[in-house]
Amino acid sequence: MPFYKIYERKTSNNETCSIIKNILLLHLSTLINRVYTILYEDSSWFCASTNLRKRKKMEKINWSELSFGYMPTDCNIRCSYKDGAWGKLEKHTDEYLTMHMAATCLHYGQEAFEGLKAFKGKDGKIRVFRIDENAKRMQSSCDGIMMAKFPIEKFKEAVIMVIKENERFVPPYESGASLYIRPLIIGMSAQVGVNAAKEYQFILFVTPVGPYFKGGFQTTPFVIFREYDRAAPLGTGTYKIGGNYAASLLAGQKAHDMGYSNCFYLDAKEKKYIDECGAANFFGIKNNTYVTPKSTSVLPSITNKSLMVLAKELGMKVEQRPIPEEELSTFEEAGACGTAAVISPIERIDDLEKNKSYIFSSDGKPGVMSEKLYKKLRAIQYGEEPDKYGWITIVE
Ligand SMILES: Cc1ncc(COP(=O)(O)O)c(C=O)c1O
Repeated sequence: MPFYKIYERKTSNNETCSIIKNILLLHLSTLINRVYTILYEDSSWFCASTNLRKRKKMEKINWSELSFGYMPTDCNIRCSYKDGAWGKLEKHTDEYLTMHMAATCLHYGQEAFEGLKAFKGKDGKIRVFRIDENAKRMQSSCDGIMMAKFPIEKFKEAVIMVIKENERFVPPYESGASLYIRPLIIGMSAQVGVNAAKEYQFILFVTPVGPYFKGGFQTTPFVIFREYDRAAPLGTGTYKIGGNYAASLLAGQKAHDMGYSNCFYLDAKEKKYIDECGAANFFGIKNNTYVTPKSTSVLPSITNKSLMVLAKELGMKVEQRPIPEEELSTFEEAGACGTAAVISPIERIDDLEKNKSYIFSSDGKPGVMSEKLYKKLRAIQYGEEPDKYGWITIVE
């Protein structure tokens, strides 16, 4: 019977006792629930025991079925910034956050994130690719939108910690899948004035993801849209912040609906030069030269940076400069590069307004140099090629 009904009636002494008993029981169960949450869900030192409990419940993961989705894992890492300093790294099992409704990340877009991967090699070792580069780029993103920078050493420590805590989610070598690592920083202070927050939270979670190419290394088509920009020339394109991705959703969806892999962005000011291919950097290859755009609105891709080094190692010239759209017709090969795929070779780029198609592959197969670069970088990530440049951290 609801309480308001009880109060409507004239209550006898017995009834009053039973009402008080019910209220006490209700409070007791809330209290027990809270104690349970504090001990088992929030507390870092109970993380391991919670993992044990979860492990028992855990069904076998079908590694070959994995997509680029989200799967809950055992533990995430968090760290708070308060009174001008970052606190300790904390382990959490709760997948949810509690924050004030006036937090700056919700209103003024104070959010930056990163994306990197860990791979299990044939030798059973877990390798992470270029952690320090992601840590540095996250610092640059934080500078760009006035957030507290997360220290590089702490970033590395958190990445190792989250992998160790979720080791059983690192896909086996044979699956071709990997562990995706997603760090983010958000503004937490409650305020309505358009100002930078005083408090921040760093969060780091992982989720296993399937191989990008399920049916082998293949080419896909892109489309140029002039009616959409991802970022302005002097805007935030060089930072990995949520707002840039929100700005690209509509164009991306439109491109998908039309059967393309993604939108191919030209520079926002003149619509003359190549910027990015969806959420990836562009490169073209001709005359044994690897050419990639120099632009103030492109995210500096860590994969692209690494491919430039490997291209030189393979005896190619490397040019980073503005690339006019017309130059597309001169490339022998072209690709989109990023953490997700390493290289996603481009079949063709359609410019519907100009009624033009720039074709790089007529049989769906990637170019020879693109494939060489792809295999070389993957081999380093899986520990099959020596790590000459110190790009790999082995999780021990
Ligand atoms: C807009 C954009 N460009 C390029 C890249 C590729 O960067 P990276 O190679 O560091 O993954 C990404 C992915 O992170 C991206 O989101």
